[in-house]
Amino acid sequence: MKLNLDKATTDDFKRLKNLRLSALKDSPNAFGAKYSDLKDRPDNYWQQLIKVSNWCLVSADGLDIALLAVDKADKDRKSDCWLSSWWIDENYRGKGVSKVMAEWVYNLCREKGWQKIGLGVWPDNKNAIAVYLKLGFELANGLMPSRSIPGLMYQPMYKSIGGDSK
Ligand SMILES: CC(C)(COP(=O)(O)OP(=O)(O)OC[C@H]1O[C@@H](n2cnc3c(N)ncnc32)[C@H](O)[C@@H]1OP(=O)(O)O)[C@@H](O)C(=O)NCCC(=O)NCCS
Repeated sequence: MKLNLDKATTDDFKRLKNLRLSALKDSPNAFGAKYSDLKDRPDNYWQQLIKVSNWCLVSADGLDIALLAVDKADKDRKSDCWLSSWWIDENYRGKGVSKVMAEWVYNLCREKGWQKIGLGVWPDNKNAIAVYLKLGFELANGLMPSRSIPGLMYQPMYKSIGGDSK
């Protein structure tokens, strides 16, 4: 399997749209956003997403299979950057793709001077939590209120990378 990891440019907006909508359709309970809210958004919505975030788009043998977003974190996130929208096509899970994507994130962090990486996961998403623990993230004490779905709480997880990531 030949993996390619690309940092999305605005030319990639259709790739982002297809991957993101596939993710929301496949895993409706994993994310704050909903497929029905995003499916009819115009092209410039997707182009704008690429302008404001660092999107990792992954293809395997030329087929798009995975994505995640990395943003500079807002102050209340208690980290330097924040990961979101992490999804891998079901047929490509359990094959080490998440580790390769994590390395992509660490490289981006080194470029940007970010050391503490944070992310939020729904507390009942035990599989994702297990994956993040395996990648070296630690559970924060206490949950935080979701911004995207008021009333819900998410589990923050953090990983610090020094000069070199482990
Ligand atoms: C979360 C997600 C991106 C992880 O990708 P993945 O391909 O399933 O992860 P991997 O299989 O590469 O797992 C990484 C490591 O965690 C381990 N792991 C995976 N599931 C595990 C589990 N339930 N318990 C213990 N360890 C587990 C793997 O064995 C692997 O360890 P290894 O490198 O030593 O083999 C993917 O499952 C996904 O897209 N899920 C649906 C969407 C989602 O929930 N996204 C997260 C939103 S916060």
